[in-house]
Amino acid sequence: MTNTVPYYEDFSEIKKKIWLMLDDAVTNRSSPFRIPVFVCGDQSDFDGRIVVLRKSDQYSNMLQFHSDIRSDKIPKLKKNSNAALIFYDKEEKIQLRVKVDCIVNHENEITEQSWLKTAHISRKCYLVNNGPGTETDEPSSGLSEDIEKSGFTMEQSEEGYKNFTVIQCNIKSIEWLYLAAKGHRRARFDITNDNQNWLIP
Ligand SMILES: Cc1cc2nc3c(=O)[nH]c(=O)nc-3n(C[C@H](O)[C@H](O)[C@H](O)COP(=O)(O)O)c2cc1C
Repeated sequence: MTNTVPYYEDFSEIKKKIWLMLDDAVTNRSSPFRIPVFVCGDQSDFDGRIVVLRKSDQYSNMLQFHSDIRSDKIPKLKKNSNAALIFYDKEEKIQLRVKVDCIVNHENEITEQSWLKTAHISRKCYLVNNGPGTETDEPSSGLSEDIEKSGFTMEQSEEGYKNFTVIQCNIKSIEWLYLAAKGHRRARFDITNDNQNWLIP
């Protein structure tokens, strides 16, 4: 007998599709899943921002992105490690709302590995004199005049390592929404309790 259930009505097929899209986004610069919104906060101060998805690991249920240790989100995450990542792919008509528990990595083995893979151009963000969000009298990139004028060598980029941070997001749940002409579908994958449910979209 052939299976006539479409992929979007089968939990394991949906999960396969989700991880295919997340894995692809790590290397595919044109994937909309490459730049999710990361939401975190403490008490009454919540905020969202775009980040670049740098790693996805289905086996450990982990997503990863990079940041600057001086960013406002770091003290917030240290107080409250619960956060969310929101993805939307317009072509696929798929939204993911991923609830996560974050680990802030700084000057450890994880950051060492990721820093080695961080290209010269991407290291520039970590060379700004003051942290992201610092007020300035004039519009500014935050980079020194020297770097602005003459650029920087790979050796000089090492200076940025002290600011480089890797945020590991351990997934607690994934909520999947699929916008289909014949009727939307919504499902929740509770990773913590190894459970899954259909939800009314
Ligand atoms: C396309 C794009 C990619 C970005 N990637 C990152 C990133 O990977 N990590 C990061 O911390 N900020 C990234 N940013 C900047 C953040 O959106 C945000 O402006 C910055 O982190 C400062 O805000 P925060 O300190 O409150 O997080 C990116 C912004 C854009 C537009």
